[in-house]
Amino acid sequence: MSGLAVIILAAGQGKRMKSTLPKVLHPVAGVPMLRYAIDVAQRLQPDIIIPVIGHEQEQVRDFLATQHHLSLTIVEQPTQRGTGDAIMVTKSVVGEDIQTILILNGDVPLLTEQTIGRLISLQKHEQPSVTMLTAKIPNPKGYGRVVRSDGNRISKIVEEVDASPEELKISEINAGTYVFTPSFLFSALDEIQPKNAQNEYYLTDTVETAVAKGKGAVALLLDDPAEAHGINSRVDLANVEGLVRRKIRERVMGSGVTLLDPQSTYIDYAVDIGQDTVVYPHTTLEGATTVGENCVIRSGVRITDSVLGRAVTILDSSVISDSIIRDEVVVGPFAHLRPGSLLEQKSKVGNFVEIKKTILGQGSKASHLSYLGDSRIGRDVNIGAGTITCNYDGAQKHETIIEDDTFIGSNSALVAPLKIGAGALIAAGSTITKDVPPEDCGIARSKQVNKPARGLKRNRKVR
Ligand code: UD1
Ligand code: MG
Repeated sequence: MSGLAVIILAAGQGKRMKSTLPKVLHPVAGVPMLRYAIDVAQRLQPDIIIPVIGHEQEQVRDFLATQHHLSLTIVEQPTQRGTGDAIMVTKSVVGEDIQTILILNGDVPLLTEQTIGRLISLQKHEQPSVTMLTAKIPNPKGYGRVVRSDGNRISKIVEEVDASPEELKISEINAGTYVFTPSFLFSALDEIQPKNAQNEYYLTDTVETAVAKGKGAVALLLDDPAEAHGINSRVDLANVEGLVRRKIRERVMGSGVTLLDPQSTYIDYAVDIGQDTVVYPHTTLEGATTVGENCVIRSGVRITDSVLGRAVTILDSSVISDSIIRDEVVVGPFAHLRPGSLLEQKSKVGNFVEIKKTILGQGSKASHLSYLGDSRIGRDVNIGAGTITCNYDGAQKHETIIEDDTFIGSNSALVAPLKIGAGALIAAGSTITKDVPPEDCGIARSKQVNKPARGLKRNRKVR
């Protein structure tokens, strides 16, 4: 929308969180809560998005720098003197061509762009000095209370700490989302004083100025009060986390994914799951994970920052991070894919197999009890039970290359750096320290000696 500026308040410490992490960086469904305000702002396509940062600003800046796709005009509030002061510091970056200013609190993640759209329309239609979002909630504790005059008009906002016993009984709260005209906003902010219990410059005091000197203040009451849920404490954090996760699960099911037990399925904000995939109970899909169509994710699985193709099966209690899994692969049960693993199409990783920084080629199998690290494994390779790549010499990591169509016998130790040529065979129980040429058989174990009748003497039972 042209002529629109969005200011996102994110400079506060969040004292009630009792944390060294700035409040707006506390994760909700796997991403910092500030991300929700930024994403909703971006979807409105404004001319400018202005995050106001201050407390522990380096950490907040680092997070904002990860939002590459966005052009943000970051403004610093040197001392956190209240929400009014935070808006005042943006004055110099709001251009002449801006007709509408939308203000979002960085700690209200459930707000939707549809609601903001309605708020902006109401402002355009009635043209008051400010239009703000309100909600009626059974327990308004901690929020600013809305004192109404008549119709949809407001006479003032009273913060809980400044409220009279009568005002505390008001169940309508300020959701922390406002639309202003720039000329009114900055002139009204010039007049506010920190004369309140917190000695802060309250943005909400501009409502009284709007009533006294401007074109008044209008409220838009939310249909779904949950959208107004702010996060000020760990209890709020847990409540909002629950609500956001529920919305995510509903979105995922709405796109054609079966969640057998939605309540015990944890899906992060940025996860994408393809149609007809079935997710079993007690599973966690985290970070920037993408799961293709027709996959099956069995119970107890955790997948983080990974990409799964189509028709992949992940069996119970497997842990997968920073890995790529191509179509029709089977993993688990009890498999561990660590960062940098790539499982090519139709490969298989079975029980108690750990894989790190390794490519397992198309159709290749490591079905039982193995460690494969820093390896490149070709097509149609069979890794026998108990095979270990000895990739670490105590100082450095080394690579193992296993070419196409090889067969690695059970309980082999492959001491890297090492190359096993295409079509080679490694005899079971070998400790291989030298390269094996293509199609050769590498055998490295002491020869077996059978001593006649020794077993019989020792083991004979008298019956
Ligand atoms: C604020 C509102 C309250 C409303 C509630 C909704 C004020 C005075 N009060 O209260 O009426 O019901 O939000 O959630 O506005 N911030 C800064 N700089 C500061 C102080 C705060 O950037 O100096 C930021 C915070 O990082 C946060 C937002 O502003 O993202 C709101 O601050 P917070 O302290 O949470 O205000 P509330 O007490 O929740
Ligand atoms: Mg708050």
